[in-house]
Amino acid sequence: MPRRLAILGSTGSIGVQALDVVSRAGADLEVVALSAAGAWEQLLVQAHEHGVQRIALSDPDAAARASEAWTDGEVLSGPAGLVALITEGDCELVLNGIVGSAGLVPTVATLGEGIDLALANKESLVVGGELVTQLAQATGAAIIPVDSEHSAIHQLISSERAGTVDRVILTASGGPFRGRTASELSHVTVEQALAHPTWAMGGKITIDSATLMNKGLELIEAHHLFGTPYERIDVVVHPQSIVHSLIQLCDGATLAHLGYPDMRVPISYGLHYPDRVDVPVRPLDLVELGALTFEQVDVDTFACLRLAREAGLAGGTAPCTLNAANEVAVHAFMAGRLGFLDIAAVIEDTLAELPAESVHSFESLGEADADARRVAAELIDARAAA
Ligand SMILES: NC(=O)c1ccc[n+]([C@@H]2O[C@H](COP(=O)([O-])OP(=O)(O)OC[C@H]3O[C@@H](n4cnc5c(N)ncnc54)[C@H](OP(=O)(O)O)[C@@H]3O)[C@@H](O)[C@H]2O)c1
Repeated sequence: MPRRLAILGSTGSIGVQALDVVSRAGADLEVVALSAAGAWEQLLVQAHEHGVQRIALSDPDAAARASEAWTDGEVLSGPAGLVALITEGDCELVLNGIVGSAGLVPTVATLGEGIDLALANKESLVVGGELVTQLAQATGAAIIPVDSEHSAIHQLISSERAGTVDRVILTASGGPFRGRTASELSHVTVEQALAHPTWAMGGKITIDSATLMNKGLELIEAHHLFGTPYERIDVVVHPQSIVHSLIQLCDGATLAHLGYPDMRVPISYGLHYPDRVDVPVRPLDLVELGALTFEQVDVDTFACLRLAREAGLAGGTAPCTLNAANEVAVHAFMAGRLGFLDIAAVIEDTLAELPAESVHSFESLGEADADARRVAAELIDARAAA
């Protein structure tokens, strides 16, 4: 019997690549539900191509338009519709490819139902780390990471006994501005920030890669996924993006996961785990590559990574505040209302204004998220007016 799969954020970079993986999976996977925010026309095309009968659009206007245009299936509307797509359906696996903290509620809905989760939406773990992992443990649902670095670590770590992994090493491409000084970054454009050297991804994660906030979010994600203390997670710049991450073991061995950058590999792993299937990617040619290089991260210039580590160590609501302020600041940068270096400054000021509080419930995270968005927006307005 095929495994019944829901793909959330199917119109995005991860979602489209996931559908490509599914179309090659033969009888192993059947897509039963798809979702997007507002891209209803693309979502209807996907539903038609993959024989899907249930879709959700978190934008109610887009959902209304899709309902008018599509009479063969069910269109669910708004954030509640997205939750119903998961909880009132018959899926056995959910791929969460939504961008931003909007992915947290569907992550909670999935794990709360005891449904396995292939997780690309790193923000779910950044914002709700402890509560999300506790929920998965309580219901027995598995979280299989789709982020390439975390997929690599998942594969490396799974055969190691507890207590044998000394360090986790996340690799970072360094983004389009690797090696630049702060003064060289003060006037970079959105187009320059979107020109990632090795990965083709959605807009928000591409800007996060340019600021190194993406690596900061991944640091927090790794802490929660693998239970590794922050002090034992390192980040190293590796411009070729061939080594996806490494673990260091107590006997002196270091294990690395290598491959050309192609998200279909970790997506396929997440959807087929614990099986492996063929993915049409080039086998690694080490001679052609010749050399792999590694550099120290410049956390003075790329302050977002420092801020993420500090927020992770502070715990409580701090990572939620960091993430929300980042989403607001990146949005403002992409809209031309904020300079590149101001992204980190706005996040730092938001964190200073909203000290970390302990987290008791998902509701308290929602409040912290809203507070941080409000403060970050005020700080951006103040900068624009200055
Ligand atoms: N792209 C990659 O290669 C990559 C690699 C590793 C990890 N990730 C992670 O995967 C996630 C998705 O990244 P992406 O690059 O695929 O993003 P993306 O291309 O921007 O796609 C985002 C998807 O989420 C939907 N969406 C946006 N806002 C939403 C909301 N408020 N509620 C419900 N759905 C919403 C979008 O729908 P519309 O199309 O209607 O806007 C779209 O389907 C992020 O957390 C990212 O960090 C991505």
